[in-house]
Amino acid sequence: MDQNSLLDGPPAITPDAPPMPSLSSQASLRPRRRSLSPTARRTTEASQDAARLELGRWLQAQGYRYTTVTPETHRRVNARPMLQQAQDLRDVFGWNRPFAESLLPREIVELLRRAGALSHHGERLRSRLRYSTLDGLLFAHSGYPTLETDAVFFGPDTYRFAALIRRALAAPGLRPPGRIVDVGCGSGAGGIIAASLLPDEVRLTLSDINPRALRHAATNAALAGVANAECVESDVLRSIEGPVDLVLANPPYLADPAGRQYRDGGDRHGCELSLRILAESLARLVPGGRLVLYTGAPQVGGEDLFWRAAQPLLRQARARFEYTELDPDVFGEELDNPEYHAVERIAAVGLIAQLPEELT
Ligand SMILES: C[S@@+](CC[C@H](N)C(=O)[O-])C[C@H]1O[C@@H](n2cnc3c(N)ncnc32)[C@H](O)[C@@H]1O
Repeated sequence: MDQNSLLDGPPAITPDAPPMPSLSSQASLRPRRRSLSPTARRTTEASQDAARLELGRWLQAQGYRYTTVTPETHRRVNARPMLQQAQDLRDVFGWNRPFAESLLPREIVELLRRAGALSHHGERLRSRLRYSTLDGLLFAHSGYPTLETDAVFFGPDTYRFAALIRRALAAPGLRPPGRIVDVGCGSGAGGIIAASLLPDEVRLTLSDINPRALRHAATNAALAGVANAECVESDVLRSIEGPVDLVLANPPYLADPAGRQYRDGGDRHGCELSLRILAESLARLVPGGRLVLYTGAPQVGGEDLFWRAAQPLLRQARARFEYTELDPDVFGEELDNPEYHAVERIAAVGLIAQLPEELT
């Protein structure tokens, strides 16, 4: 990965050219980033992280609320002529609409600049950072549109994933897990929601291959007051040490020709990574340990390809499970991609699997 892409952006105001860039043209429009020494980079990142947290705390104090929608809904709503200029905090930090500098207190504009998240939009400014709410908690993540390969994801899937986690944790007679790992945590939403529902002693590991996601996850754990959280860069469970009681995962599940980390689930129409998470979790969980996996399942000729490949792994581990189709049709527009030529729909599914208490 390009070292400079670890940064949210340079610490100065940067040009931001409307109209919306297409995927192929984004590289030419992206502001040129200076090469920094590792020490200078760490200093810049620490300053950005502190500013992102301070901004979040200020938004919490203002009673800010915003629900993230799909990129297509975002585009449609923002295209309305009367919504071209931000009027309030939701417009700035949720909808990422251009705003007049006078709309915000000067110190808040300065915090956005320090967070490396301020761009020029003609005479006006624009936030390249979004803040969304879920279960009353606040999450910082990448601004709209999320074109960069290392964008920090948060979206409607996150809300469905959180609902699946709440259901899994509400199971009667459940032994509270000692240690949770959120694989592919993105903004950290899944793990942070779980920790907020469990006793304070629970140990939370937020893990991702994207260092930028881990920095946002650390901000969000602090905003939620989750004290026992560590952030670990890891490809699935490879760099995670020690026993794990509960694995949570909402990984990328699409076949993404652009190879974006938050979207591309690899081979088998995007199922490969989810199957790897299933196999690695079943091999690592403690006896009685559980996996809560939210993913997308491509359907071909009436058959669920993810479920066909998952069942032998569950049988081999003698796991008990609950598998639910949560939404029969998500990302329908992806079916135009040649990779999906035989796929009739993609379903959003939830798998809750539990290992036997006695492993033989
Ligand atoms: C669709 S996003 C979901 C983020 C978050 N779990 C949520 O629910 O909002 C998928 C995340 O998985 C991460 N990811 C992709 N491949 C991974 C891998 N091999 N190991 C760990 N994380 C991965 C991406 O960087 C991204 O943050």
